[in-house]
Amino acid sequence: MWVMMDVKKWALSVLAVLAVVELGCVSANVVSFEVRHKFAGRDRNLSSMMAHDVSRRGRLLSAVDLDMGGNGNPSDAGLYFAKIWLGTPPKDYYVQVDTGSDILWVNSIECDNCPKKSDIGVELTLYDPRSSSTSSYVHCDQDFCTSTYDGLLPGCKPNLQCQYNVAYGDGSSTSGYFVKDTIQFNRVTGNLQATVTSGSVIFGCGTKQSGDLGSSTEAVDGIIGFGESNTSIISQLAAAGKVKRIFAHCLDNINGGGIFTIGEIVSPKVNTTPMVPKQQHYNVVTKKIEVGGDVLDLPTYVFGTGDKKGTIIDSGTTLALIPKVIYDPLMAKILNKGPKLKLQMVEEFSCFQFNGNVDDGFPLVKFYFEGSVSLTVYPHDYLFAIKENMWCFGWVNGGLQSEDSNNIMLLGDMVLSNKLVVYDIENQTIGWTEYNCSSSIKVKDEMSGAVYTVGAHILSSASSLTVGVALTLLSILTAFIAQLYSLN
Ligand SMILES: *[C@@H]1O[C@H](CO)[C@@H](O)[C@H](O)[C@H]1NC(C)=O
Ligand SMILES: *[C@@H]1O[C@H](CO)[C@@H](O)[C@H](O)[C@H]1NC(C)=O
Ligand SMILES: *[C@@H]1O[C@H](CO)[C@@H](O)[C@H](O)[C@H]1NC(C)=O
Repeated sequence: MWVMMDVKKWALSVLAVLAVVELGCVSANVVSFEVRHKFAGRDRNLSSMMAHDVSRRGRLLSAVDLDMGGNGNPSDAGLYFAKIWLGTPPKDYYVQVDTGSDILWVNSIECDNCPKKSDIGVELTLYDPRSSSTSSYVHCDQDFCTSTYDGLLPGCKPNLQCQYNVAYGDGSSTSGYFVKDTIQFNRVTGNLQATVTSGSVIFGCGTKQSGDLGSSTEAVDGIIGFGESNTSIISQLAAAGKVKRIFAHCLDNINGGGIFTIGEIVSPKVNTTPMVPKQQHYNVVTKKIEVGGDVLDLPTYVFGTGDKKGTIIDSGTTLALIPKVIYDPLMAKILNKGPKLKLQMVEEFSCFQFNGNVDDGFPLVKFYFEGSVSLTVYPHDYLFAIKENMWCFGWVNGGLQSEDSNNIMLLGDMVLSNKLVVYDIENQTIGWTEYNCSSSIKVKDEMSGAVYTVGAHILSSASSLTVGVALTLLSILTAFIAQLYSLN
C-alpha cells in the first residue's frame, strides 16, 4: 500500500486533535507519523553516510532470505506476506511486504479492534512488549523519534512514548507507539541454506487500526514497509552494518509465495531504470505505453515526475491504479484489439464472459521506462477470473484528469508478479526481468564474497475464491480516491 501523498495536512490536523483528546487521559504524547516531512529533509548523502557507518563497523554484510506466502489474485488473498520473528523468546509474525511504505508495525496485545484470526491460513499473534525480555519503549526524546519527526515534538517530556500514525493510500490507517526489540532473520549461508541471525530494530506496536486493517477477514499481523527512508527495517539493518540496501522480490501468482531477499543479486541480471530522487515512494519515469504494438497517444504531462506525477512501484497494492487520462485510451485500445465483449459491472469492476485462453484473445500491454527498460503485462496478469468464464479487468480507473490534479500511476502486484524486481537503493535504480518465481536466484554474501542459491518459499495459505474479496479491494480504492479529492 502506498502512503497518502497529502498526508501532511491531514497529519497535522490529527496531531492537533489527538494531542488534546489524549494528553489528559493517558498522559502520552500523541503524534502523527508525518510521512511527507521526513522526505523533505532527505538528501543524497544518505547512502554515503550509511556506507561510512558500515565500513566503521567492519564488513558484516549478509544476504537475507524471507519466507514468503500469499498470492496476488484479487479474488483470493490479494496480498503477499513474509514471516518474521520478533521478541525474546521469538514469536512468528506474518506481515504484508510493502514497498510503498516505510515502517514495520504489528498488531498489539493492547489493541481492541485488531484481527485475531485470518482466512488466509496463518495463525495471528498479537505483540506484547511486556512478554518479551528484550523489548524497550522508544521515548519522544530519543534519536529515532526526533529524526522521524524532524525535531523534538512539542510537549515532549522524558519517558513519554514515541507514537506513530500511518495513513495508507487505500484509506486505512494504523496508530500506536514505537518499541525496540529483537528481530530474527534467515542469513543465507549456503546454497538453499540459511542460519538464524538477529538484530535490534524499532517498529510500531499497533494499538488502533482503521479501515480495512481493522476489519478484513484476509488479515495478517502487520505490514513491513520496504521504503528507502531511515525508519524502514532495511535502512535500520543497513545502518547497523548488517545488510546492504538492495532487495528483490519475485511474487509468484501461479503457485503463491515466491522469493524475497535482501542483498546483492548476482543472477538473473535485470535491466534497470533510475529511481526519481527525493520521492516518498519508489517512483520511476514512464516514457510510453503500447497496447498490442500500438503506442497510446497521451499528453506528455502524464509522464512527468513530481509530487502528483510519476509511476509508483508498490508491492503492497494488489491491482494497477491508472489515472483517467491514461485509463480511457488504454481500455479503448484493449477492447479494440481484443474480442468483441459485452462488458458488465460486477461490483465496480468491468467484467465479461469469456471462454478460452485470455492470452490468445487479448493484446499485450507494454510499459516503457527511462533507460529503454520495458515491462510487459500479459492478459492473464491484467485480467482475473471471479468465477468460471467470468473475467474482470484489473486496471483501476484512478479518476481525475486535469494537468494539475493527481496523476500518479501505481503499478502493484498484478503487474509485478512473475518477475524478479530488484530495488537498489544504494545505486538508486529499480530493475526487473521476467522470471519463474518458483525457481531460484543467486545472491552474494558480502561477508565471504560467496555466491549462494536462494529458492522460492510458499507459506501455507488457504485459498478462497469469492467476489466478496474483490469488493473489499474496490472499496479500498474508492476510499482512496475519495480522500485524494477531499484533500486537494
Ligand atoms: C537518517 O539517519 C542518519 C543517521 O543514521 C541521520 O543523520 C539522518 O539525518 C537521517 N535522515 C533523515 C532524513 O532523517
Ligand atoms: C552500483 O554502482 C557502482 C558504481 O557505478 C557499480 O560499481 C556497482 O556495480 C553497482 N552495483 C550494482 C549492484 O549494480
Ligand atoms: C518453474 O520452476 C519450477 C522449479 O524449478 C519448475 O518446477 C517449473 O516447471 C518451472 N515453471 C515453468 C513454467 O518453467
